[in-house]
Order: sequence, then structure tokens, then C-alpha cells
Amino acid sequence: MIKTIGSSKEAMQLEDKYGAHNYHPVPVVISKGKGVKVWDVEGKEYYDFLSAYSALNQGHCHPRIIDSLTEQASRLTLTSRAFYNDVLGLFEKYITEYFGYDRVLPMNSGVEGGETAIKLCRKWAYQVKKVPENRVKILFANGNFWGRTLAAVSTSDDPESYGEYGPYMPGFGLVPYNDLEALENALKADENIAGFMVEPIQGEAGVVVPDEGYLKKAYELCQKHNVLLIADEVQTGIGRTGRLLASEYDGIKPDIVILGKALSGGVMPVSAVLARDEIMLTVKPGQHGSTYGGNPLACSVAMAALQVLKDENMTENAYKMGLIFRDRMEKMIEKTDLVSKVRGKGLLNAIIINDTPESETAWNICVKLKENGLLAKPTHGNIIRFAPPLVITEEELHECCDIIEKTVLAYK
Ligand SMILES: Cc1ncc(COP(=O)(O)O)c(C=O)c1O
Repeated sequence: MIKTIGSSKEAMQLEDKYGAHNYHPVPVVISKGKGVKVWDVEGKEYYDFLSAYSALNQGHCHPRIIDSLTEQASRLTLTSRAFYNDVLGLFEKYITEYFGYDRVLPMNSGVEGGETAIKLCRKWAYQVKKVPENRVKILFANGNFWGRTLAAVSTSDDPESYGEYGPYMPGFGLVPYNDLEALENALKADENIAGFMVEPIQGEAGVVVPDEGYLKKAYELCQKHNVLLIADEVQTGIGRTGRLLASEYDGIKPDIVILGKALSGGVMPVSAVLARDEIMLTVKPGQHGSTYGGNPLACSVAMAALQVLKDENMTENAYKMGLIFRDRMEKMIEKTDLVSKVRGKGLLNAIIINDTPESETAWNICVKLKENGLLAKPTHGNIIRFAPPLVITEEELHECCDIIEKTVLAYK
């Protein structure tokens, strides 16, 4: 039997002493979660307003997702793709019908989904678009974040992400986010561009919401230049923004969609790439894969996670609660100079703290929020993201807005 933790302090000391220092967590040690709430080792209760970066849309330990996990775990967990298993096909049918795509390629983490989308785009470029060998280029937006692999950091313009990880992968280009003219000029300048990978709302950049219609026009430009629009919906998808996919706000169906995070309701790493036949069938047996990708446990959990989202109208709730949340935050900023802006869609929101990105203000506010029973974390220094599980009720939301308001107004 592995020794259990005696106190929050002990847990933090162990991580500090034995773990790599690649994260800077808020000083709270979570021991239990249920719905929108979590408890620390000492039993103090908190509202979770990060949802593991939007992976817990369905709330902590949703009973139906946990049931599917335990039932499947006691029967069959992994076969690898060397053999068929009796859940993968069911999942593939389920998810493609759910999102309206021909085919799915299942992976594990969000970044693997991004890598998969890029590989599919490159295959499509050579086989269908007929780009000369090794000349394909894929565009990304400034401020993008899609994970931590070498390809992902090679497309990043954030020195924190890419610094000292060179040499970087070639074949990528950057255009400013929310700038259609720049996108058009880039597309016109190089006929070897085969894809534009973009987040409908940039999550890690600080919940950056583009102008209305940006994605729709970007899609039209891509179509005009025979370029695939790859929507990175790892953070924005699965109901988070008040639509099943954030791309729905623009009425478009991206050529490739990447999903992750809440695809498993925060239970295990599951990601997926959706595309039509012409794109997906460019990859042949042996050309891409993952030992755990499409494992029966993940497939079972993902089906349950998507089904509860629908059955419990979580997407609609995210839309409604988002309106109330932003309204409350707007009212709060009338009372203080500390917050300069509120932005977001559905339950993916952020407030901008009126201080420099280098300042400690947003961090200190998050520490105070924690003391007052609400967990959130700054992104890019002076931005605080608020993304609770989508199962939050109106009453709970008002209670949380009260905590945020009380904390911000009392901050000195
Ligand atoms: C938009 C987006 N794409 C991809 C990823 C990477 O997902 P993962 O951390 O599961 O690799 C993230 C993670 O925050 C993300 O926000």
C-alpha cells in the first residue's frame, strides 16, 4: 500500500523536492472533487473555476462517466490497434454522428490531436492538393497555444514556450490573429500553404475573442485558396463556449476539428481529430498511430462524457450562465479601477487586471480568491481566466460572483 498524504504542506513539499519544476501551481492541494466543487486535504471546500483548463466541463467525477469507466475497466482496458476491440467502432460511429464528420482518428492528449491534424494536412497537401515534395506550409495565428511538443513550440510566438528548445521545425508560418487582411496576403503569397490552424477563441493567450465573423471569413479565404481550415477546439469545444463547437457561432464546419480535454469529462486523456474521407483516408496503415489511441477504456468514457453533455443540456447552460457571469463582472468593474475588461463566450471568460503582465497583482488576487473558496489561475500575467464546470447552477454562479467581487474590491 502506498503511503497517503497527511497534510497539504506535505504534498507540496514532496512535489517541490521530487518533481520537475515545470509548473507553478496555486498553493492548494486538492484531494476530492464533485461537480463544481473540490476539497483540499484538510477538508476545506472550493469552487473550481479553472476546470483543469476546460477539461472538466461535465464537472468532477460525473457519476455516469465514472460508471462507464469502472464498468469498462473491469472488462477490458487496452488491446492496442494491433487487434480490433469491441468498443472502438461503436465510439467512432457515435462521435462522427455526434459532430457530423465522416471519420475520426483517436489519440490521447490535445497536442497529439494537433500533431495528427498537421500530419493529415501535410498528407492531403501532397496527395490531393499536389504540393511539391517537402514544400508544404501550414499557417498558425500569433498567440496560438496548442501544447508542448516540438512542433507546437515551433509555431509559438511566446518565448516562455519556445525558448531554448530550438532548432525548430520548418514548414510553419504565423499571421496575426483576428486579421483577415494579413491572412489573405499570406495565402496569396505562397501557393504551397495547405492549412490554417486556429482556435475560435484563444484560450491560453488570455481568452482572446476575435471579431464576429472572423472564423467564417477566414474559412472562406481558405476555401478560395484550397487551404484546409483546422479548428483547434481542444479548449473551446464540447459546450464550453455555449455551443457544442465554438465554430458554430460562425456557422462553419471546419475541414478538420481537433478535440481533447472535456472529451473524457476530465477522467483520462482522450483526444480526437475529425475530418472528411478525402482528408482522413490519405493516411494508410502503419503511417500514424499511438499505443493508447482508441483504447476501449477511453472510447467508453468519451461516449459517456458526450452523452451526459447532451442529456443534461450543459451547452445551453454554459450559454445562459455565461451571460449572467459577464453581466455580473461588468457591474463589478464599474466599482473598481483594478479590472479593465471582461471578455469571453459561454463559460470561457476572463477579466483583465489593470496592471502590467509582469506584475504580481493577478497572482495575488488568485491567492486571495483561493482563501475565499474559489480556484482560478492567471494566464499571461495580468489576465484571470474563469471557466467553471458547465454544470454550475445559477445560484452557485451568483455565490461565486459574490466571492470574486468581494475579493477584487477588497484587494489592496
Ligand atoms: C487550444 C488548445 N489546444 C491544445 C492544447 C493541448 O492540450 P494537451 O495539454 O492535452 O496536450 C491546449 C491545452 O491547453 C489548448 O488550450
